Amino acid sequence: MIRAVHSFPRGFLWGTATAAHQVEGDNRNNDWWAWEQEPGHIALGHRSGKACDWWGGRWRDDLDRSAADGHNAHRFSIEWSRVEPTSAVWDEGAIDAYREIAKGALDRGLMPVVTLHHFSNPLWISESGGWVNPEIIPLFERYVRKVVTALQDLVGIWVTINEPNLYAVLAYAMGAFPPGGKDIGKAVRAARNLTLAHAAAYHAIHEIQPGSLVGLAHHYRAFWPARPANPLDRWAARARWRMVNDLIPRALADGRFRSLIWNERLPQAAGTQDYFGLNYYTAETIAFDPSQPGTLFSRGFFPEGSDLSPTGFIANEPEGLWEALSWAHSTGLPIFVMENGVEDPTDRLRPRYLAAHIRQVWRAVNFAWPVRGYFFWTLVDNFEWERGWTHRFGLWELVPETQERRKRPSADFFREICKANALSSDTVAAYAPEAFEWLFPPKGRMRPEATTA
Ligand code: BGC
Repeated sequence: MIRAVHSFPRGFLWGTATAAHQVEGDNRNNDWWAWEQEPGHIALGHRSGKACDWWGGRWRDDLDRSAADGHNAHRFSIEWSRVEPTSAVWDEGAIDAYREIAKGALDRGLMPVVTLHHFSNPLWISESGGWVNPEIIPLFERYVRKVVTALQDLVGIWVTINEPNLYAVLAYAMGAFPPGGKDIGKAVRAARNLTLAHAAAYHAIHEIQPGSLVGLAHHYRAFWPARPANPLDRWAARARWRMVNDLIPRALADGRFRSLIWNERLPQAAGTQDYFGLNYYTAETIAFDPSQPGTLFSRGFFPEGSDLSPTGFIANEPEGLWEALSWAHSTGLPIFVMENGVEDPTDRLRPRYLAAHIRQVWRAVNFAWPVRGYFFWTLVDNFEWERGWTHRFGLWELVPETQERRKRPSADFFREICKANALSSDTVAAYAPEAFEWLFPPKGRMRPEATTA
């Protein structure tokens, strides 16, 4: 049996990622809470309720779990509606509570990585037009200045906005997130305003804290032509890739926003990333379909025979992460994998998903690409937006009614990886034996991925 150790560089960050509305509970003053109260929006009528009760103080026990499991970082987000419950009125108590969480992370040996916007907005913002109204840009900057000024002695890595690409589409084109818009033009407008809000935040944070690292978390989805030899499928996959993956990062690189609807110069956005933050979950194949103008004349489905999560939400396609890393690397920036994970209540798929994706990160590290950290989504089962509690992404299971946590085997597997700063064949054999031959093939059966960059 082959034995190998895939080591990561010293100082590599290992942790999990969370988001305020998904873990805090009782976030009554934002658009998500209001959305949850209206029937039909959330699977099975679920609500965030107490979530993981972090606002009630359970972040302490959960970060104890992270520290005990060898993590050295944690990514969490700040809830804008708590810090600024009404326009220009600041809740200093809420800011102190976030200082306490950041300090609590540091005290446990966890580097805090802080997201400033993760899908939820104060009600006063959504009532004044949300992200399609460009007036949000200076308002977001004002909030960012307040938070960064207050936390700058504790936090040095900032994620301005989580997944602006996915957020714009889900909230303004697909109707899945508040405000439930179904207009592609509005989604593109929101994407533009999100890009500019990020840029304003980037410049403001650097003014306050010149040495900080500022970026955002891009959602990358791999799109492969269903029939690779078919030029229409190739065109359709490319069109989706451009709109979903490339639109915002390109604008952040060269200051040009090139949507399929309009082009615009946004010079203030150029060069506004100190690192490339990547969220990757899955890949899909795309077939040209002239009857689907709303989805760029195409249909998407998971590759045939793929290893699917229990609800069919995610296919285990680690090559897509490799593709995402290669693309991120082409920007020349250091890279953080800011999210990666799978919903799996019985932990049947998660161990091999984890092993296979961390293997891709190691491939990149092995070519000396500057990948600096990996954050698994997520620590404890949380409120999964429009899917409510039907999706379980945690290393730890949560019983929301009792707040009981139960460890899944993947938590131990991830602990072995974090503690060793390496993925070894021994731990794969112990926790994901079914992935062993795929990751460590016997001599003479090496997969081409192991040898090419
Ligand atoms: C989001 C998380 C979400 C996860 C799994 C990501 O796109 O950033 O907030 O919970 O997907 O659904």
